[in-house]
Amino acid sequence: MASRGGFSSKIGFIAAAAGSAVGLGNIWQFPYVAGENGGAAFLLIYVAWIFLIGLPIMVGEVAVGRNTGANPFGAYKKLGGKKWAWVGFFGILCGVMILSFYNVVAGWAFGYFVQLSFGDLLQQKELSNYFYNYTADFSDNLIYSLVFMVLTGFIVYRGVQKGIEGTSKVLMPTLFIILILIIIYGLNLPNAADGVAFYLVPDFSLINGATIYSALGQAFFSLSLGMGALITYGSYISKEDNIVNSATWVTISDTLVAFLAGLMIFPLVFSQGQSPSEGPGLVFIALVGIFQNMPPLLGKLVGCSFFLLLCFAALTSTISLLEVPVAFLVDQKKWSRKKSVIVMSAIIFALGLPSMLSYGASDLFSNFAYYEGTSKTFMDVVQDLFFVVSLPLGGFLLSIFIARHWKAKSLSEEISQGYASYKGSVIEKYFNLMITMVCPVVLGFMFILTVLQKFFGVSIF
Ligand code: PFF
Repeated sequence: MASRGGFSSKIGFIAAAAGSAVGLGNIWQFPYVAGENGGAAFLLIYVAWIFLIGLPIMVGEVAVGRNTGANPFGAYKKLGGKKWAWVGFFGILCGVMILSFYNVVAGWAFGYFVQLSFGDLLQQKELSNYFYNYTADFSDNLIYSLVFMVLTGFIVYRGVQKGIEGTSKVLMPTLFIILILIIIYGLNLPNAADGVAFYLVPDFSLINGATIYSALGQAFFSLSLGMGALITYGSYISKEDNIVNSATWVTISDTLVAFLAGLMIFPLVFSQGQSPSEGPGLVFIALVGIFQNMPPLLGKLVGCSFFLLLCFAALTSTISLLEVPVAFLVDQKKWSRKKSVIVMSAIIFALGLPSMLSYGASDLFSNFAYYEGTSKTFMDVVQDLFFVVSLPLGGFLLSIFIARHWKAKSLSEEISQGYASYKGSVIEKYFNLMITMVCPVVLGFMFILTVLQKFFGVSIF
C-alpha cells in the first residue's frame, strides 16, 4: 500500500472523489441534457437514479477497491480470477475513451477562458456562430486540449496525496463559491422566473424512454461510476473510513452541483430569450451573452471566473480518469508512475484527435448515422458507446459480480470496517438488497433497452 500512495484522511478521499464526480458532466452537460429532455421532469428521474442505483453502486465500487487495494483490473482479478479481470479491463478502456473526448471539451473551456481574458470574445455579436467556428477550429482544439492534458498528467504524476488530493481540496470549495455567486446574479435578471419554472416545475408529458435512458447514463457519468474510477480511489483509503458515509457525501455534493448548475444556467438562458435545448453549446453561448450585458469590467471578471471554474471542475475529473489506466500500469505492469503517465497521456491525446475534428473541422468525423434520420458527431458516438451504454453496463457487471461471486457477506465484512454498527443494521439490508437484487435486474434491463433505442431506434416506452 505504501508504495502505491494513499489519501491522507477521510476528507481527502471525499474531496478527491467529489472532485472526480463534479465536472463537465455537472456544469456543461447536465444543463444541456436536462434542457433537451424537458427540464424538471428530467431532473426528477435523474435524482431518482442517482440515489436508488448510483449510491449503492458507488458503495460497491469503493468496497471492492479498498478490499483489494488495486486498480479495476487487479481488483477483479484478485477476487474473481482471470475471467472477471476482463470486466475491470473493459472499465479501464471506457475511462481511456471517455478522457479522450472529455479532454477536448475541457480544452474548449480553457480556450474560452483565454479568449475572455486576452481576446475579443466579449465583443463578439454572433455567439452561436462564434462557438461553432471556435469548436470547428482544429488548431485551437489541438493547442488547448494539449495544455489540459499536460496539466492533468503533471498532477497525476505528482501522486495521490500531493497531486490529486491537494488539488481537489483547494479547487472544490472555490468552484462552489463561484457557482453560488453567479446564481445570485442570474436570479435577479428579468424573466429569471421562467427559467426557474422550466427547471423546477415538471411536465410529465415530456418523459419518454429516451429521457429515462439519458438520465441513467448521465447519473453514472456524473458520479464517475461503472468504469472503476471509484475502485481505484477506494484502493487508496484507509480501513478506518466509513465507506457508506463517504459515498453519501460524494453523491450529495455531486447532485448538489448539478442541481445548482441548472439553477445557474436556466434563468440566464430565459432572461436572454434563448432556447434551453441548444445542445452542447448551451453553457458557452448563453453565459457569454450574459457576461456581455454586464458592465465591461464586471463581465470580464465574472466571465473569467466562470470559465476558470469550468476548468477546475474538469481538471479534478480528468485527473481521476487518467489515474485509472495509470494505476493499472503501475500495479500490473510495474511501470514507474512517470512512464505510465507519459505513455497514457500521449495515447489518450492521440485518441482524442477525431473528437477534436468532429465539430466541423472534418466532414468524416462530423456526420455519422446509426440509422436513417440520426445525425451524430464522432464525439457523440464515443459518448454513446463508452458512457451512455457502457457505464450502466459496468454497474450491472459489478453488481452481478458482488451478488454471484464476491457475495453480499464479503461486501458487508468490508463495509463494516470503519462502520462498526453496519452489520445487522437496516442500512446493511438496504444496500445488500439494492446491490445484489435491484441493480442487476434494473441495470440489465436498462442496458438492453438503451442499446435498442440508441442504435436501432426501437423504443419500448
Ligand atoms: N464525473 C465526471 C463529470 O461529471 O464530469 C466525469 C467522469 C470522471 C466520468 C471520471 C468517469 C470518471 F471515471
